[in-house]
Amino acid sequence: MPFPSVVAAQESRAEATVSVRADQPGPQIAPEVFGQFAEHLGTGIYGGIWVGRGSRIPNDEGYRRDVLAALKAINVPMVRWPGGCFADEYHWRDGIGPSNKRPVKVNTNWGGVNEDNSFGTHEFMGFAERLGAKSYVSLNVGSGTPAESSQWVEYLTAPSGTTVLAKERARNGRAAPWQVAYLGIGNELWGCGGNMRAEYAADLTNQYAQFAKAGGQKPLKIASGPSDANYEWTETMMKLSGKYIDGLGLHFYTRPRDKNWEDKGAALAFPEREWASTLAHTLEMDEYITKHSAIMDKYDPQKRVMLAVDEWGTWYDPAPGSNPGFLQQQNSLRDALVAALNIHIFAKHADRVRMAAIAQMVNVLQAMLLTDGARMVKTPTYWAFDLYKPWQGATTLAADVTSPWYHKDEFALPAVSVSAVRDTGGQVHVALVNIDPNRAVPVSVSLSGVQPAAASGRIITAAAMDAHNSFDQPDVVAPAPFTGAQFGNGAITATLPAKSIVVLELR
Ligand code: AHR
Repeated sequence: MPFPSVVAAQESRAEATVSVRADQPGPQIAPEVFGQFAEHLGTGIYGGIWVGRGSRIPNDEGYRRDVLAALKAINVPMVRWPGGCFADEYHWRDGIGPSNKRPVKVNTNWGGVNEDNSFGTHEFMGFAERLGAKSYVSLNVGSGTPAESSQWVEYLTAPSGTTVLAKERARNGRAAPWQVAYLGIGNELWGCGGNMRAEYAADLTNQYAQFAKAGGQKPLKIASGPSDANYEWTETMMKLSGKYIDGLGLHFYTRPRDKNWEDKGAALAFPEREWASTLAHTLEMDEYITKHSAIMDKYDPQKRVMLAVDEWGTWYDPAPGSNPGFLQQQNSLRDALVAALNIHIFAKHADRVRMAAIAQMVNVLQAMLLTDGARMVKTPTYWAFDLYKPWQGATTLAADVTSPWYHKDEFALPAVSVSAVRDTGGQVHVALVNIDPNRAVPVSVSLSGVQPAAASGRIITAAAMDAHNSFDQPDVVAPAPFTGAQFGNGAITATLPAKSIVVLELR
């Protein structure tokens, strides 16, 4: 049964009413829903994660120390690599062995720059291990062969000292196999992964999945899924491949001007209309998940196959002066709200959405972190992920909201969004987002099934819609304590400031 979550918006109300029923638990939220995507794109890997052992930037065996520490602090549960579009042109043998002997190639998808392959299999798996994150390795279906993919999987997973490839891995410095949690069977096979018809992609998916044998391990196989509302793709993949896969990807990018990829809208200094259009557009995620899930339900009523939202986030025009192929963009308070709303949607669909990856981790699109030489800054999106850490592995709780509307031009959206969970330690948390950039909204939260004696809270907000953190001013948008919640008569009352995310922990 779908988990209940109702949003009713009422014109005349100035106040939002929320009901949280802690005695009505729903499905668990897989921690991997907070996963991240790291592609060989721009400075996402080189400079962002990996600076090499000889770098003057403080590093741990080549990995940036500041980036590792920041990512560990938000408990990154999973990392997807090496792409993206890059994955379907990646030949894994280019990225093993002595670094100075690896071939230099051109990254044809992203900026036409040289790819020296110094970050390869050992470096990625070492990165995931250092983070304590699960690995999601995307195989090359578009321009590779089933044999090449199956050998890569063997190289990754064959037990120590067994096969020729296990021995080669050991000679390259790693005797023990790595744990591979997910294998992507190509990426966007309808587009940069080979412009395939769904039927052809499904046949290839079944073939690649068959030969991706991981010894004693059972990595979950994630098929290249649809983007946005491409329901025909889901129908065909589920019909022809459903029994051979463990997950189907879904890609959906939020753009302020969503009709044209050449003119997406700016990351900063945008008009209020683009605040509204961005948030309206991002809420379409709910409809896409609902409709793709309904198709999946026909073929997989037990929900064995997950919907893996393995690329999501905002995509704006490139930062002024940057290489357009690097997809660099600033990240503002608006992005933090986009992240929060999507987390609420994923929580609502936790029974089917059991993994997701925001695009991307560092320096690319809706990033957690931005770097410039030795400097690093945490973005508002990073702080949203920090606020929602208790959602990782938590049990969803029934929560409804009746909210006033926020209107701008043709956009009309409920101002308040809610998500409530019981974390793995038993504490109840309630997240409230007020998307109205102009008006504070008083909210009253009635509680059943929990009798808290106290609550503590954190808030992310700022004066400007495009408030952001820069290398010179890194703390403009960061969580602050929220002390405005009052208890009385089994309810909590508070006023949610305009454009804010408030997360309460009930104790
Ligand atoms: O995240 C950037 C790109 O967006 C990915 O490489 C591709 O899969 C998608 O189109």
